[in-house]
Parts: sequence; structure tokens; C-alpha cells
Amino acid sequence: MGDGGRQAHWENVYTRKGENEVSWFQQSPAPSLDLIVQAGATHDSAIIDIGGGASRLVDNLVEQGFEDVTVLDLSAAALAAASSRLGPGAQKVRWIVADATSWEPTRVYDIWHDRAAFHFLTDAGDRAAYIDRLRRGLRIGGHAIIATFSPDGPEKCSGLPVARYDSASLGQTLGPAFELVHTERHAHATPWESRQSFQFSVFRHVG
Ligand SMILES: C[S@@+](CC[C@H](N)C(=O)[O-])C[C@H]1O[C@@H](n2cnc3c(N)ncnc32)[C@H](O)[C@@H]1O
Repeated sequence: MGDGGRQAHWENVYTRKGENEVSWFQQSPAPSLDLIVQAGATHDSAIIDIGGGASRLVDNLVEQGFEDVTVLDLSAAALAAASSRLGPGAQKVRWIVADATSWEPTRVYDIWHDRAAFHFLTDAGDRAAYIDRLRRGLRIGGHAIIATFSPDGPEKCSGLPVARYDSASLGQTLGPAFELVHTERHAHATPWESRQSFQFSVFRHVG
């Protein structure tokens, strides 16, 4: 799917559905928060949530005192929903409407977080473009936390095909610039109480 088709898909989802009417909704993004802290983030670390959508991760980060948080997503409607939920706290966050495969990072981040966005990139060219941004946008020594469906997870998300990974295949896809430091599995409970098998892997950018 090209950039335009992708964006239209996600705008449509976030315009039509409430936050807890989508399978990926989490009341508490606990696995991500724990891994961000384990990766050594401090309150002044630069953190970017790629494909953050309307996730509550940003609310939690702001509430916990993280001062340099950016959320990037294809969907302006998703970011508007998150920003209006935060109220005045939204001013502390940088919001970027962009496609992660064509966005040009203008600075580097200490933590790159992606839950369930990378796995939509089923085209090798799109994956290469994303990884190029990851290499340029994550400082050497910084950490990428990437959560995708596991090999035993669903084949589709939001009606779109996904690529499923374990830590080894994800590491192979990212390439030698990223060294695996941690991986864990997570069974996500959807709002309708079905289970989806995720893997969360943490990679250090070694250059
Ligand atoms: C399944 S949702 C997950 C949202 C959020 N990370 C969470 O955990 O709640 C996937 C998100 O990735 C975004 N997305 C998909 N492809 C993208 C791309 N190429 N660039 C930026 N965002 C993208 C979608 O708009 C959507 O918000």
C-alpha cells in the first residue's frame, strides 16, 4: 500500500472508531513503560513513539515526568485524539504527522518506541526506508523498542496484512547496526477479550 492509501486507511480508522473500539487499545501500556525505564531513560531522554496513534503511552510518559516526548503517526485524527485527552499537558509533547518511511528526522532520539506500526511494513522497500530513518533518528548507544505480532500472532491487524517476527527475525531485518539486548513475549488482551501474541524486543544502536 502506498503512502496515500496508508494514510487514508488510518485516518478513516481513527475518525470512525473510539479509542477502545480498536483491537490494539491498552488501558495501560505497561510493557512499553517498563522497557523504556529498563533501557535507562531519564526524565530528559528524548523519546519518540513511532506510529503512536492515540495510545496512552504519551499520557503516562508526561505524567511520570519525561520532558522530551515526541509522537509520530500517519493519522492527524489519532494525534488530535491523544492531544485533546492530554489537555494542557499536550503542549509538552511534539506531535508529528508523517509516514515513518518518508519522514526526515531533524534530530536524534535516545529511545525509539514502536508498538504495532513496523509490522505493517510488508514491502521490503518500505522496511528499508524505515530502518534508514531508525539509523538516522536513534543516537548511537540509544535503544529501539519494537513490538510486533509474534509468529503465532494474527496475520492481520486493522484488516491489513502484517509481517510477524520473533527477536531473531526482527534482528536480522534491522541489520547489524542493532544489537538485541532484551526480548519478551506479551499476550495482549483486546477490548473484546481475545488474545494477541506480541513480542517486544529492545535493540541497542551500535552504529
Ligand atoms: C495498530 S496501531 C498501534 C498504535 C499505537 N502504537 C498503540 O500501541 O496503541 C498502528 C499505528 O501505526 C500507525 N502507522 C501505520 N503505518 C505507519 C507509517 N508508515 N508511519 C507512521 N505511522 C504509521 C497507524 O496510524 C496507527 O496509529
